[in-house]
Amino acid sequence: MKFNNETEKQVFERLWKELSNLIEKDCQGYDELYGYKLLEGEFYDEEVAKALVYKFCKAYQFNYEEAVKNLTDTLNWRREFDPLSAAFKETHNKALESIGILTLYPKAPANKKVVTWNLYGGLLKQKEVFENVEKFLRYRIGLMERGLKLLDFTDENNDYMTQVHDYKGVSMWKMDPQIKKCTKQVIETFQKYYPELLYAKYFVNVPSLLTWVYDVVKKFVGEETRKKFVVLNDGNKLGAYIPFAPSTLYGGKSADSLATQNVTDVRPTPYALSLLEKEMTTEID
Ligand code: HEM
Repeated sequence: MKFNNETEKQVFERLWKELSNLIEKDCQGYDELYGYKLLEGEFYDEEVAKALVYKFCKAYQFNYEEAVKNLTDTLNWRREFDPLSAAFKETHNKALESIGILTLYPKAPANKKVVTWNLYGGLLKQKEVFENVEKFLRYRIGLMERGLKLLDFTDENNDYMTQVHDYKGVSMWKMDPQIKKCTKQVIETFQKYYPELLYAKYFVNVPSLLTWVYDVVKKFVGEETRKKFVVLNDGNKLGAYIPFAPSTLYGGKSADSLATQNVTDVRPTPYALSLLEKEMTTEID
């Protein structure tokens, strides 16, 4: 954890000290964040808990009130939305499952080790997947949470993720309203409840004719996030940014295809597993 000055450090320490009160008082005791436990007890890892609280302080420029509000909002949202269930319990539409890929490149440069790939171009013939915004969101959040599980919040070289959107095959003259709704909802959810987790985001195979879509969508996104975006017309240029990407289609140095690289066996953290088990017991009762 790096602090630029004493004030930042004090804000973090104040929030850290207040954490259990805030969680008890404002979050009905819900202390799970990205699968990790924030309050002492079984499954607790202080270093991880501190790293996560630090992210909220950093995301809100060490403004105490803002950091508190957003952290408690996030925990309350998690208690209700149950992203762990979306990640590890629920099944999603097959077409969606097939276009969301997670890769892990341990030797890649800092924060480019965990990459989420959204091959949205592949969904063009299956527009029905965008009809139910809630279902789409649960799928996308599930993928996000599984990706987060591959990060290591105690390692400053692997505590952010990189994301790729591949729009190969996309051609459109106007934006489908359902796609727009899903997109907006996902962007808003990520902005509110997943701060300081994105390192870089690449949009590949974007035809020059569609740069207008970029101009539309980027309006939904905050300035800090926007700075992390790179648009590439040619997917083969991606290898210059993600060196271990597949050589075929993405110009990286791996002979493996994305399907081969796909990490499919992502397990919940022990704390997440205990919460999911508790949920199942309650459901059976
Ligand atoms: C974000 C889908 C076309 C640029 C998103 C998101 C979805 C999505 C679901 C939410 C964020 C996420 O899932 O990570 C689609 C679909 C498209 C399409 C289905 C067409 C079939 C385009 C095109 C561009 C574009 C042509 C041009 C570059 C963006 C940008 C974001 C975004 C800038 C914001 C990313 C973020 O905040 O993380 N898109 N998109 N999209 N899309 Fe697209």
